[in-house]
Formats: sequence, C-alpha cells, structure tokens
Amino acid sequence: MQRDIFEIIKTRRSIRRYKKEIPDEVLIRRCIEAACYAPSSKDSQPWSFVLVKDRDKIKELSKTQPYSKFLENAPYVIVALADEGKSNHWLEDCSCAIMLLLLEAHSLGLGTCWNAVYHPEIQEREDYVRKVLDIDRRYRVIANIGIGYPDEEPLPKKVKSSREIILKVV
Ligand SMILES: Cc1cc2nc3c(=O)[nH]c(=O)nc-3n(C[C@H](O)[C@H](O)[C@H](O)COP(=O)(O)O)c2cc1C
Repeated sequence: MQRDIFEIIKTRRSIRRYKKEIPDEVLIRRCIEAACYAPSSKDSQPWSFVLVKDRDKIKELSKTQPYSKFLENAPYVIVALADEGKSNHWLEDCSCAIMLLLLEAHSLGLGTCWNAVYHPEIQEREDYVRKVLDIDRRYRVIANIGIGYPDEEPLPKKVKSSREIILKVV
C-alpha cells in the first residue's frame, strides 16, 4: 500500500537485522532508481552504485570498519559511489541520493541501514571497499547500505520539536 511521503519520512528507522527471505531484485533496483532523482550540484548526478549479492563479498564488506558487522546478514548490500571529477559537491550529492534510496526502500517494506565508508580522515576504508569490489580509484566510496526485509521493529523515532530546531524566524 502506498503511504503518504511524510508518513514514510517519519516512520523510517535504521534496520540492522534482516529476514532470511531474499527480496526480489526488482525492488532493490527500484530503490536505486529512486536515488537517481536526487538533487545534485549543477545536476551533475555524480553517483554510481554497486549491487552486491555475493555472500563472500558481503562478508568482506562487513569488515569495512568497526560498525559494519551488521551487514553480514543482509541479503543485499548497495555500495554508493561518487565520481569526484563530476562534482565539487560529490559528498552532498551522493548523500541526497542515498536518502531517497532509504525512503523508497521503506515505502516498499524494506529495511536499510547506512554504513559509513567515507571518512574525512580515514582513507583506508574506501581503499578496502575499492579492493574488495575492484572499483576504479576515481570513485569515492560513500557508504555500504544493508537492505532486506526487516527482522526488528525499532520504536518510533524521538526527534527535537520544530520549536527547538528553528533557531529563529526573521
Ligand atoms: C553518515 C551516516 C553514517 C552512518 N554510519 C553507520 C555505521 O557505520 N554503522 C551503523 O550501524 N549505522 C550507521 N548509521 C546509521 C545511524 O546510526 C542512524 O541513522 C542513527 O542512529 C539514527 O537512527 P535512525 O536511522 O533509525 O533514524 C549511519 C548514518 C549516517 C547518516
């Protein structure tokens, strides 16, 4: 059932436990397609994605950094890349695309969690993922995204009220 966008935004949570049932790849591809509609600097669309289904590769990705372990039981991992040469704002561009991917996944009943690969001071994590997946150096590796049917139900998100986050209205 299609739900209202604000409802989708409000109910999305990071999901790190996934059911054994493997979602149809069509659904995963649809999430990636959604990502492509993100805004980007000068409409540069500098993103690319690697869809990882191979269990051995997923196991290797689950060792990217200390908080990557949850990936090992994900039926799929989507690796989000940014072509540095295409945009001065590749990080923001790619982050917008990932966000749309996460929201589309949630609207389809899939659970996701962003696993940071890009780190401003630690290049080794990107090198590691590039090596595991044989990715060209021109691509920056932004994130590994675990995706599958949720096997946990986090509580609704507590967020700050708009009164707290709107610093001022001038
Ligand atoms: C840039 C970024 C990096 C993240 N890296 C990790 C990570 O490495 N491992 C992990 O388990 N979760 C990671 N997360 C998920 C956050 O922990 C999660 O979004 C946050 O706790 C808020 O929970 P929510 O997504 O359910 O709203 C990351 C999220 C973002 C946006």
